[in-house]
Amino acid sequence: MNIVVLGPGAVGSLWAYSLHQAGHSVSVYSRRQSPFIPLQVDQHPIISVQNNHLDSLRNADLLLVTVKAPQVAQALTSIKQEIDADCIVVLMHNGMGTAEQISQLLPNNPLLLATTTHGALRSSSEQVLHTGLGSTQIGGYNQTGMQCQFVTEVFHHALAHVEWNSQILNALWNKLAINCAINPLTAIHQIYNGQLAEPHYAEAIHAIIGEVSQVMNAEGVEVTEQQLEARIYHVIEATAKNHSSMQQDIFHQRQSEIDFITGYLLQKAQQHGISTPTNSALFKHIKQIEQSWIHE
Ligand SMILES: NC(=O)c1ccc[n+]([C@@H]2O[C@H](COP(=O)([O-])OP(=O)(O)OC[C@H]3O[C@@H](n4cnc5c(N)ncnc54)[C@H](OP(=O)(O)O)[C@@H]3O)[C@@H](O)[C@H]2O)c1
Repeated sequence: MNIVVLGPGAVGSLWAYSLHQAGHSVSVYSRRQSPFIPLQVDQHPIISVQNNHLDSLRNADLLLVTVKAPQVAQALTSIKQEIDADCIVVLMHNGMGTAEQISQLLPNNPLLLATTTHGALRSSSEQVLHTGLGSTQIGGYNQTGMQCQFVTEVFHHALAHVEWNSQILNALWNKLAINCAINPLTAIHQIYNGQLAEPHYAEAIHAIIGEVSQVMNAEGVEVTEQQLEARIYHVIEATAKNHSSMQQDIFHQRQSEIDFITGYLLQKAQQHGISTPTNSALFKHIKQIEQSWIHE
């Protein structure tokens, strides 16, 4: 396939490299100016792929979008005119809310959503470290996207394990629930994920989960507080030595994905008339931190 990866950061480079090695014609769209960019995963051979190549974009069968959630709409708006209406668009990032934006921006394109648990870290401008083997779920967001199940095979062949999920929004909600519990707290307190197992965070986590489970149920996602709590503590334990992406964003004074994690939850809670004092307070706290950099 002719594949373009928009946003070759850690995750995007891992996928661009893997899809290239699987035999596809891969190019990238980035904020860099050079016509070619080198890519390397771990110590595997360096490859060179075309960058910001208009014809590749115009002829793309599939556009894999791996910019962070806050950049998705803006990144796609700038190249919208060049995307063929048949090009399959796959959004792969943490958080929710971009699918609504993109289905308005590109109403005719098959739209797919993906969530991955692979770990990737950029060690230099060309090298990405594949820090954790994971799996990826993918599913259709609109009618035409739901007919693109074959993409699962394409992705699985490149970077296993990939599964089609006909209820991809449920998977994204379950990921969002974990992110709502782990990301703001680790970012505010600048702690490792594992430190959330300490007893003094239990009350906050319990309150977050109570609110999230109500919103999920109102959205038609069946889950109990007990199920969510068990999943969240499992992730806290399994990723105990990791820093969350929001902890890292706040540490490096980068815009976080809070609008598409807790912010999305609050938006849906408001639509359903559900009160979310704990998540609202966490949202405001992260926003205040981000605002403080602007005034520094
Ligand atoms: N890293 C992981 O292990 C991991 C695992 C699971 C999920 N995720 C999620 O995956 C998403 C991507 O994460 P990441 O770690 O890959 O982030 P990242 O390394 O920051 O990659 C994002 C890339 O998008 C580029 N970008 C931003 N705006 C752009 C634009 N307008 N046009 C083209 N490129 C643009 C950035 O360019 P610059 O380099 O110029 O900033 C950067 O290279 C996030 O939602 C993250 O939460 C990450």
